[in-house]
Amino acid sequence: MPDNQHEKIFLSDYKAFPWKVDRVDLTFKLSPKATRVLSRIAFRPDPAAPAAPFFLHGESVRLISAAIDGEPVSPDVTDRGLTCDVPDRPFLWEAEVEISPEENTALEGLYMSNGIFSTQCEAEGFRRITFYPDRPDVLARFRVRIESDLPVLLSNGNPVASGKGFAEWDDPWPKPAYLFALVAGDLQPVRDTFTTRSGREVDLAIWVRKGDEHKCAWGLESLKASMKWDEETYGREYQLDIFNIVAVSDFNAGAMENTGLNIFNSALVLASPETATDAEFERIEGVIAHEYFHNWTGNRVTCRDWFQLSLKEGLTVYRDQQFTSDMRSAPVKRIEDALLLRARQFREDGGPLAHPVRPESFVEINNFYTLTVYEKGAEVVGMLKRLVGDNAWRAGCDLYFERHDGEAVTIEDWLAAFADTMGRDLEQFKRWYSQAGTPRLSVKEDWDGQTYKLTLTQSTPPTPGQSDKLPLVIPVAIGLLHPDGAEIVGTTMVEMSQETEVLTYDIADLCKRQGKDVARPVPSLLRGFSAPVIVEFERPTEENAFLLAHDTDPFNRWEAGRNLSREVLLKRAAGEEADDAHLVKGISSVLRDTHLDPAFKALVLGLPSEDDIAQGLHAAGKTPDPTAIHAAGEALRDRIAEELEPLLAKTFDENQVPGPYSPDAAAAGKRSLANRCLGLLSRRDDGARAAAQYDSADNMTLSLAALSALLNIGKGDAQLADFETKWRDDPLVMDKWFSLQVASAAPEDAATTADRLTGHPAFNWKNPNRFRSVFSPLANANPAGFHDPSGKAYELMADWLIRLDPVNPSIAARGSTAFDTWERYDTGRQEKMRAALQRILDTPNLSRDTREMVSRILGD
Ligand code: ARG
Ligand code: ZN
Repeated sequence: MPDNQHEKIFLSDYKAFPWKVDRVDLTFKLSPKATRVLSRIAFRPDPAAPAAPFFLHGESVRLISAAIDGEPVSPDVTDRGLTCDVPDRPFLWEAEVEISPEENTALEGLYMSNGIFSTQCEAEGFRRITFYPDRPDVLARFRVRIESDLPVLLSNGNPVASGKGFAEWDDPWPKPAYLFALVAGDLQPVRDTFTTRSGREVDLAIWVRKGDEHKCAWGLESLKASMKWDEETYGREYQLDIFNIVAVSDFNAGAMENTGLNIFNSALVLASPETATDAEFERIEGVIAHEYFHNWTGNRVTCRDWFQLSLKEGLTVYRDQQFTSDMRSAPVKRIEDALLLRARQFREDGGPLAHPVRPESFVEINNFYTLTVYEKGAEVVGMLKRLVGDNAWRAGCDLYFERHDGEAVTIEDWLAAFADTMGRDLEQFKRWYSQAGTPRLSVKEDWDGQTYKLTLTQSTPPTPGQSDKLPLVIPVAIGLLHPDGAEIVGTTMVEMSQETEVLTYDIADLCKRQGKDVARPVPSLLRGFSAPVIVEFERPTEENAFLLAHDTDPFNRWEAGRNLSREVLLKRAAGEEADDAHLVKGISSVLRDTHLDPAFKALVLGLPSEDDIAQGLHAAGKTPDPTAIHAAGEALRDRIAEELEPLLAKTFDENQVPGPYSPDAAAAGKRSLANRCLGLLSRRDDGARAAAQYDSADNMTLSLAALSALLNIGKGDAQLADFETKWRDDPLVMDKWFSLQVASAAPEDAATTADRLTGHPAFNWKNPNRFRSVFSPLANANPAGFHDPSGKAYELMADWLIRLDPVNPSIAARGSTAFDTWERYDTGRQEKMRAALQRILDTPNLSRDTREMVSRILGD
């Protein structure tokens, strides 16, 4: 039904669309300011669905004419869509509309980016192209004709006809409108092929602007690896003869899985050794895989409504994480994923924006493409796999695909595939989808000299709109170590479902049978980060040091080191004394251990982020002081550098990678370790090594790390200028140049630096990547700068969000999350942040996107 601009939509109100769509024929007469779209849509009443008026979504589209079965009609048009009287039988709807891609700065629907026509329809962009039932449960076959003089005209599916000034495409797979895509422009293809296991030869191409062809090789390699992996791991094959990827430079999100025509933010597909870092190569490999995997998890089996978003996103993130673990190092990937989840999703889950993996209401769905839906959603999928086991996992996935290919389904359908495979009830497990907030797992131990007892108690704190929480099913992987360093109980998966569970171990017997002295064991809890929860367990520092040296579980080995550094930083940031001897010694033995992977060592060298410490202090009932947290981190880095200088220098030397650059995991791991050492060593050698590395670097990983190390010690002006001269014509590299300066500015200079950069001639704030290159590091990478007591950064952020909102509401709304921690801080900062938020909220004509976000952040 037509709805108001700011109306809330509820999951519980779901109703099927009363018509089926048999065919959609679209003709696009492309023109930057006045594109005409002709639609012919065959509707047929669906007797199974409840009756309702005929309503088609449509926003920012100008209706020229409409007809039903050839007879002109005059529908009622509002700014959200149209209603029309329709006959009670199958009928053909025809409409002509006009849209203006060039004026479409919101980058939803059909828009222009640097002379290229391009689309983004998920979630509700198709309604900005023409009038249509723009909802994911309406599936249809699309045929598209594009008329334009531009040399390359692309859409979904297979090319069926083309000639001077036109091209026609047919997508034989019924799809929801959010998967529609069209691209037109002067683009160059870089081609390859892939033969599926049943022998279908698929033509692959990445389409780029002239001059970017040399940045496509990695994307194509990643695509082929993904196609092969999905066949081998999930038995899933690709169904079309063609798979196109297009790189566009103005894009709100990372990438989009449109059937047969993926569209990517150029930052997430283009890479060359000179311009992209190792981390970017890994990210590109993962995002290419993610979009490709959507072909089955999202496209062939899609979502009934947008509340089910995690059905495709959580599952597809889980699959891309598995892929990266297989292509690279599984323990390293697990640590990276846990870092991201804790830093960003735990923050979201613990603040005013907390919401369940399957939200129950929204005003603007774009605001729910969140870390909770994606990353926590992926954790829920991972837990399901751990609970059912590998065999039932694969069988359940097979059943899900077999049952629902070509359908739009729900989380219930997903879980039913596993419940039916296992003959097991998953009702309690389903609470993970409906209950927001990060569960706490508190652990108590008892030891009587014979028997060792662990008492696990779970609880989930209240979140907005959800005051009472029920117990969840939590897979807790546990191992026990003997004080001699050996494992006496190997990893066991405990399936916790009650509020409290007691685990009892007959240690006397176990020790005797293994020929050991009877001694109190050391527990290794939540191995592999087996559930997205916070473990509350007070451990003596010595025990963390012991686990850092001996745990057989790589994740927990890293975790033990992290606990050591966290303890030091939490204390010092709160003005207490803390001894760092165990930490320094632990790091030193990890660095010396020749059996450990360099990438893992690099992770152990990384200290907790400033926001992580703020989160921890807040959880402990203290008021975090961002300035003190920053100072504590700096002092600890100085200390580690001072204590371990020779070892860091040796590690730095030993991890230089000779020969031509390759982005593989082994080489990248070494560079990552060497660069961590470089950052620390620069505090001792006045940047000598970093300056030398900057001069000799032949790849972006080395140059950027060197530049960053210099800026972090207040040097590097010459290199920064050199970098700019060298890369001024490469926007993706220039994004890094902008970011780095904000990230490494001294706290008191961060806002001024960001402000100054917005005045740089290359600062194009309407380009999402460039806008984010300044404001994302201000909000995320430099918390002491963002929370500088002057409040300058808050003001600057608010100014720019207000300016951006009418141009690109979804990016502005996303940017407002910078303020979602306001409740943690002292009254001075709280008041300044609330004033900034209120100023945004009071802006006339604020978008529904930003209004919803800011209101939720303020708790209204
Ligand atoms: N489905 C895309 C992906 O995860 C992201 C689309 C983002 N859309 C949005 N409205 N935020 O691969
Ligand atoms: Zn996705």
